[in-house]
Amino acid sequence: MPAADISIVILAAGKGTRMRSSLAKVLHQAGGRTLIEHVIRACQPLKPAQLLAIVGHQHEEVTRVAASLGVETILQQPQRGTGHAMQIARRAIRKSARLAIVTPGDAPLLRTETLAALVDTHRRGEAAATILTAEIADPSGYGRIIRDSEGRVLSIVEDGKLAPEQRGILEINSSIYCFTLEKLWPCLADLRPDNAHRELYLTDAISKLRERNERVLACVAADANEVLGCNTRSHLADIDRIFRARKAAALMDSGVTIYLPETVIIDPEVAVGADTIVDPGVRLLGRTRIGANCRIGAGSILFDMRVDDGVTILPNCNMTSSRLRARSQIGPFARLRPGADIREGAHVGNFVEVKNSVIREGAKAMHLTYLGDASVGRGSNVGAGTITCNYDGVAKYHTEIGDRVFIGSDTALVAPVRIGDGAYVAAGSVITENIPADALGIARGRQSNKPGWARERRRQLAAAKSPRRRVRPKPRSNRSRRASRPARRR
Ligand code: UD1
Ligand code: CA
Repeated sequence: MPAADISIVILAAGKGTRMRSSLAKVLHQAGGRTLIEHVIRACQPLKPAQLLAIVGHQHEEVTRVAASLGVETILQQPQRGTGHAMQIARRAIRKSARLAIVTPGDAPLLRTETLAALVDTHRRGEAAATILTAEIADPSGYGRIIRDSEGRVLSIVEDGKLAPEQRGILEINSSIYCFTLEKLWPCLADLRPDNAHRELYLTDAISKLRERNERVLACVAADANEVLGCNTRSHLADIDRIFRARKAAALMDSGVTIYLPETVIIDPEVAVGADTIVDPGVRLLGRTRIGANCRIGAGSILFDMRVDDGVTILPNCNMTSSRLRARSQIGPFARLRPGADIREGAHVGNFVEVKNSVIREGAKAMHLTYLGDASVGRGSNVGAGTITCNYDGVAKYHTEIGDRVFIGSDTALVAPVRIGDGAYVAAGSVITENIPADALGIARGRQSNKPGWARERRRQLAAAKSPRRRVRPKPRSNRSRRASRPARRR
């Protein structure tokens, strides 16, 4: 479809008073993107000659988002209505443009194909204006399409101005139009602010066109959801839900199993391979990419993650900017912070936190462990409660664990430190020096047992409770009494 004669104008200057927010409405997020970004992305594939956004409220922030997507902006200050916005747009619209698509910045569910159908209807019908409309069950708040007895569009009447007999009309104005510019311009000049808000309404241009005997068409959207506008927080939640459902449906169509898809949140850029199973309550965010044949356990949150094929993620893991290689297994309740690289077949288990560390092929860290700025060699086993002490309050240091190493439980590895291949570390050690290959490192206090100590303590406690029972302590020296007295309860 040739679009070199089209300028697309996105109306995004309004405040969005009904959102009751300090943030401009088009900067609120639904379906993982700002509202205006969705609109821009729906317009871009048409390859129009120009993409122009009208900005006003918080124009600096809105311009930043628009510019990052290659959209030019023009300032509408003050904002005196959608008709006024188009008067401002006129200054920036290319002279070569014959048609304009006008779309609000707050109708983010619109699809490119629907815009293309709108333009197609407009061109074939040789219209001066074509309105994208939809029939919706609850049209309250929207402008309604008024047609004559032959079904021709006469005007758009805003919700507040409907006559009683017009209240039953279910066909609404989406605020998405295609205009032939040379026909629109004279009508815009005729707009008057004769409404409660003292604004110039673009909707009034429709009746002006009809007064001039111009042809106005309506193109009814196949999917009414596409034209939903976002005016309130409750609309925002509805729109978000529809985006999430769309994304889940697209993934299911491509061969992904999603259980209770209404409970999962998947951002638009996320990719998931076939036969991967996504359990309830999962959130796949940012640029996360997941391979085929994985299982993503319930309640897990993945942000900017790269997951290869055949990975098992058990429930309730929280992972950011890390890599899980083929057939690795994570969780439940594992935390991966940026830069964790879990190699093929490695296991990271319950309540294990990994940051900026490589866990090499087949290595395991199964319970209650912190691995930061570390490297764990092939086939090594990191015992429960092991901690890499990577930070001295000033700088971070590296811990190097070789291949086939066995780290006993409750070990503190004070970095920088290196454990050679095949070495053992005794449980409960605080390791501050390198351990050579195949050696045992042990660093802890020696155990001593005190025979009968516990029995003696119980006897003393019993005596304290019943003072009438005479207890004759065995005669002993002061020194031995002090050494073996059980600690008093506080
Ligand atoms: C508008 C339509 C209504 C339609 C509805 C669909 C008018 C008068 N009414 O109502 O018929 O059913 O959209 O969602 O057009 N904007 C500007 N500058 C302004 C005012 C608004 O750029 O001076 C922008 C807003 O940022 C917004 C869009 O225009 O993106 C629509 O404005 P909004 O106030 O949301 O209009 P509605 O009351 O929803
Ligand atoms: Ca609106």
